[in-house]
Amino acid sequence: MATGEQGQVAAAWAQLHGLEPQRLAGLFTGDPARVAAMTRRISWPVAPGSAEQTGMTIDFAKTHLGEAELAAFEALADAAGFAAAREALFGGGIVNVTEGRAATHGALRGSGTDAQVEEAEALLARMGMLVEAIHQGALGEVKHCIAIGIGGSALGPALAIDALTRDLALVDVHVVSNIDGLALEQAFAACDPQTTLIAVASKTFTTIETMTNAASALKWLADNGVEDPGGQVVALTAAPEKAVEWGVDETRILPFPESVGGRYSLFSSIGFPIALAIGMEEFRQLLAGAKAVDDHFRTTEGRANAPLLAAFADQYYTRLRGCQTRAVFAYDERLALLPDYLQQLEMESNGKSVTVSGDPVDGPTAAVTWGGVGTDAQHAVFQLLHQGTHLIPVDFIVSIAPGDDLDPAHHRILLMNCLAQGAALMAGKASDDPARAYPGDRPSTTFLLDDCDAAALGALIAFHEQRTFANAVLMGINPFDQFGVELGKAIAKQIEKGEGDFDPSTKALMAMAGLA
Ligand code: F6P
Repeated sequence: MATGEQGQVAAAWAQLHGLEPQRLAGLFTGDPARVAAMTRRISWPVAPGSAEQTGMTIDFAKTHLGEAELAAFEALADAAGFAAAREALFGGGIVNVTEGRAATHGALRGSGTDAQVEEAEALLARMGMLVEAIHQGALGEVKHCIAIGIGGSALGPALAIDALTRDLALVDVHVVSNIDGLALEQAFAACDPQTTLIAVASKTFTTIETMTNAASALKWLADNGVEDPGGQVVALTAAPEKAVEWGVDETRILPFPESVGGRYSLFSSIGFPIALAIGMEEFRQLLAGAKAVDDHFRTTEGRANAPLLAAFADQYYTRLRGCQTRAVFAYDERLALLPDYLQQLEMESNGKSVTVSGDPVDGPTAAVTWGGVGTDAQHAVFQLLHQGTHLIPVDFIVSIAPGDDLDPAHHRILLMNCLAQGAALMAGKASDDPARAYPGDRPSTTFLLDDCDAAALGALIAFHEQRTFANAVLMGINPFDQFGVELGKAIAKQIEKGEGDFDPSTKALMAMAGLA
């Protein structure tokens, strides 16, 4: 990962820390053109090859980024080597320095070197052939799929399937991640073993939860009279040799490159359950939306670059205003799982304490990402957003086109509530009664999707991938490793083997839980 000139980076941060916070209302009165200046649009064709465009509009006007902040963040991006880092990302450079790897998730949707894009297209074509063969009955009747994976091998498929199969699922997919047997039992109860495909998704094909669940799923098929349980298993992995060793037939292994990180793998063969549920044509629309964001991110400079501008706001709130969390509320049932997805993407990527060169970071890194669905969340947690003592930047996401066929009043009320919350957070309200006063000046960013379809979902995901990357560059950290998850796994293994010397509290708990 390219690192910038340290002296210039420090100077840019010093400049930013020296800026006096301005009130949102003042930013609007000081600049009548603010809305246009702070609104970004990313578009893509309504259908493959169509000249008609659709897309998403992102309104950053209700953030505290004024001219001084924007100029200083642009200087920071330059000093931090943003342009070179971005070129390295798309050019197959070793951006994951601690693991000596490129990060080629962009190539999965056509944004990368020719060789990487060619390889990704070949793998996608292979996945497409298997998906279509299954739809045509090559593996017998397939009505259900239990997709087993965890973390990045589950969150993307779970989000996309939940979002895109409200009207129709070509195959009924159940994503199971937790080792808690209740999760798998629930999927078993909803599926017929004779017509159920088991998709085992694991980049490493060693993750204990996934391998244990996969073995139990295979046993469930066998126990329920399936003659050839192995014939109903598909593996999605960057370690095909491990899947062969585990007993999966090579013809049903869909590999993806090692250089695609788990939380960036939705567009690889990890997306097989999505394609099975929505069909290859729709899956390609997911890729097309993501590609539109990549193209924008790759070719747009400074504040005009929407994911970079979002990262400026993220850095402003975490580093200059001390915000420890950021909240995401999708006013759309189809995006109910988006906060879960973003939590892994942002917190596993940027929840770090050292820079690319191994030095301690000089400020807070990723905020805690959390959120929910509007309008439900308004009646549960918004009290704290409006009157609590925390300053929490909020992202609102809403589609202009409705997803439902009911009385249009439903969608109008949804939309008006979404916009009302952003307005209320910013405006606040004075009152003689302190309990009834709203301080206001609370920031939000609004994502207005023309529609919440496959392409828009792909665009939203790629937007957040690139936003996460841009944040990492501004902080000088590597977003592509995740060593922080290893220690707990190692200790769990020690407990399993009865090895290791534990603290008194853990020893007591182990004894009570029957583990010692
Ligand atoms: O433990 C964290 C992690 O490695 C994630 O980064 C990853 O998405 C998840 O586990 C699952 O890993 P795998 O796909 O190798 O099973």
